[in-house]
Amino acid sequence: MKSFSSLLGPALGALGAAAVLLSPGEARADGEHWVSPGLMLSVSFGDKTNFGLGLDARYAYVLRYQSVGVGAFAQASWLNFSSAGRFAAGLHGGGDLSRALFGLQGEVGWTYRTALGEEHPGGHGVHLGLGGIGMSIIDLVFRGTIPLPGEPSKPEFTIAAGAHFPPMYGMGSLIIEGRPLRVGGRYILPGVARKPRRGGARPVRLDDTTRLALASAWRDDARGECASIPSFLALSRDLAAAGAPRDLVQRALAAAADEARHTRACAAIAGDLASMSLVPELLPAPPPSGLDRTRELSRLCVESWEDGCLGEGAAAERAQRRATGAKEEGMGAALSMIAKDEAQHAELGWRIVQWCLSEGGQPVREALGEAVAASPEGPAREDLPEAEPRAWRAHGRLGRVDIEASWEKNLQMARTTADRMLSARG
Ligand SMILES: [Fe+2]
Ligand SMILES: [Fe+2]
Repeated sequence: MKSFSSLLGPALGALGAAAVLLSPGEARADGEHWVSPGLMLSVSFGDKTNFGLGLDARYAYVLRYQSVGVGAFAQASWLNFSSAGRFAAGLHGGGDLSRALFGLQGEVGWTYRTALGEEHPGGHGVHLGLGGIGMSIIDLVFRGTIPLPGEPSKPEFTIAAGAHFPPMYGMGSLIIEGRPLRVGGRYILPGVARKPRRGGARPVRLDDTTRLALASAWRDDARGECASIPSFLALSRDLAAAGAPRDLVQRALAAAADEARHTRACAAIAGDLASMSLVPELLPAPPPSGLDRTRELSRLCVESWEDGCLGEGAAAERAQRRATGAKEEGMGAALSMIAKDEAQHAELGWRIVQWCLSEGGQPVREALGEAVAASPEGPAREDLPEAEPRAWRAHGRLGRVDIEASWEKNLQMARTTADRMLSARG
């Protein structure tokens, strides 16, 4: 096994480089440990054609909300329904490229196949794999086995189809409070600078688990709100460049200022709960899309539907329900202010959709029709933390039922409005 250990160094180096390439420069997201078991079917070619039925277990350290990660894998396949088998272990890295529709992953490690009878000896080899991930859970991987020097086995090429649940690189989404910041088709959240502070309104009646859960939920709200600032600045710039009416451009700018207020309010509440000073990092606005005007109008229209009419519409509904339940000082007022602003941002979303339809004609109409048909039936998945339910609600948080009801109520109204706009001849 001396030759194997000499290969491990370069392999680890290559995977490290892949991990650096995979981490988005603008993101400062937290990571989490993630385990994902899976099944796979494979056909391999080389010395002999083999059919395999196997298990593929993954561990990954994934960036929360980003669906990218690196980690370790272990695979075992039963070959040709005989006593032969193939085993592999190593490192893998990858992630979703387009909002969970398509992703890529790579593997590097060690593999061993048992003999397939006397004429087909087994042996150790280097395992290399590259593949695509569909809808976060299915994958198609091309793998190569290069025998280690001195091994009697021959090189092999394998095509494997598999399924993993939960997904290999995390569930990837959260409910973002405010208009999300899209960079390269991915939602980005800023990091938060934190400083210990003395005193402050540290609540005394909360158990540590609940306090931590509340602080981190409000901190994530602040991150989402802060991400909306560059998002609205970019929207304002792109509307101006596309020749939108002045009031739409100005309302997008004003919305960026609203989001700055929301950021401050949420960060102050999170800071009080954590006895820290929390300041989310202001990220740069994404670059202009570079699309021609018709496509740009379609993009603005679809994004305003998704992020404004659906996203901010549901955020307004949630904030209203949160304000009703919030009993702690200052939280109800902050949430009422956010609810009012988010409703206006959703309304701005509708104004933009309408303007894009009237300017862009049929191609924009078709793009919006497709987006409306593909609207998610439920809100983004979010794991609710363990917390004392009464305190959770009194501190302006919602349970699953209210989160889903907010989405459904807004979706129904939004669909009706969109259908009316789409059926009106413009
Ligand atoms: Fe907001
Ligand atoms: Fe907003």
